[in-house]
Amino acid sequence: MLADLSRKLAPVFREVAAHPGEFDHVPSNGNVVLQAVEVIFPGGTDTLTLEDANRAIQFLPSPRARLTLPPNHPGLYLIKVMRLLSAIGLSAIGGTWVDFLALNPVVLSDRNGNRSSTPSFHFGYWSHSSPVPYITSDTRRHSPAICRAVHRFLKAIAKYLAPPILMLLRFYAPHVYERQIRAYERVKALLGRDEWFVDFLGAFFTIAAKEGSSEIPHVDFNDDANSITWAVPIGEFTGGEFCAHQLGSRVPVLAGQGIGCNTRNLVHCGTPADGHRLILTLFCDKTLMSGADQGRF
Ligand SMILES: [Fe+2]
Repeated sequence: MLADLSRKLAPVFREVAAHPGEFDHVPSNGNVVLQAVEVIFPGGTDTLTLEDANRAIQFLPSPRARLTLPPNHPGLYLIKVMRLLSAIGLSAIGGTWVDFLALNPVVLSDRNGNRSSTPSFHFGYWSHSSPVPYITSDTRRHSPAICRAVHRFLKAIAKYLAPPILMLLRFYAPHVYERQIRAYERVKALLGRDEWFVDFLGAFFTIAAKEGSSEIPHVDFNDDANSITWAVPIGEFTGGEFCAHQLGSRVPVLAGQGIGCNTRNLVHCGTPADGHRLILTLFCDKTLMSGADQGRF
C-alpha cells in the first residue's frame, strides 16, 4: 500500500530523446513561429498528451540530447512543481491583484501582442532595447493610488514566490542560479536606491500578469534562452493547461502549482480557461542578462 502511495506521489520523469531546437534560432517574428507550428504540429494542442494534474513532472534531456545542448542551457526543459505557493501566498497575491484591478488600471507596457487577445501588465525590471535595465511603465507610471497597489502586489510576489523559485533554481540548475545572482547584484546596485525597488532575490526580474490564458502558440523572444521562466496560476478556474508542442504534452497547472520552462526555445501556449485565473509569468529578459554577462552595468 505504501509502495502504491509513493508511486502516486512520485514525479513523472520524461526523457527527451533529441534536443528540440526547432525554434532556437528562428527570427523574432510571431507569425513565422505560428506558421511553423501549423506545419510541424498540424493536430494542434488536442493531439498532445494530457498529463496527470496531481503529479509533478519533469522533462529532462536524454544523455544523447545533453551532448547537443547549447552551452549554459538549464539542463531541463520543463518542470512542474506541486506546491509552489502556500494557501497564505495564494491569498496574499490573489487579494492584492483584485485590489489592483479594482482601480481600473490600463496596460502601459504590453509586449504580448502575438500571444493572446488580452494584454498583460509587465511589472518589475527589464532592459529590452535599453543598454541598462529599468523599471517598467506598469510599475511606476500609473496614478499614485495604482502604483501603491502595484507595490503591494509585487511585495506579495517577492515574499511568497521569489524564495521558493530561487531554491528550485539552485537545486535543479545551479549554474543558472549563479548567473542570475550575478545579474541580480548588478541590477540591485544600479536601482537599489529607487523608491520602487522590490527585491525578487534574482529568482526573476520581470513579471507578466493577466487574467485568462495565452492561447496562441509562441516562443518568448525577449526571454533569456538560458534562464527558466516560471508560470504560476492563481484563482478558481478550469482549463489553462500548459501546452508544450515539442515535448508532446499538455500539462494541467492548478492554483498554487507552478511550471518552469525554457520559453525562449520551446513553443508553448495555454488552453482556454474558465473562471477567474490570474496567470503570472516570471522571467529574465535576454538584454538584461546579456548586459550583466558582459559587465555593461
Ligand atoms: Fe510565453
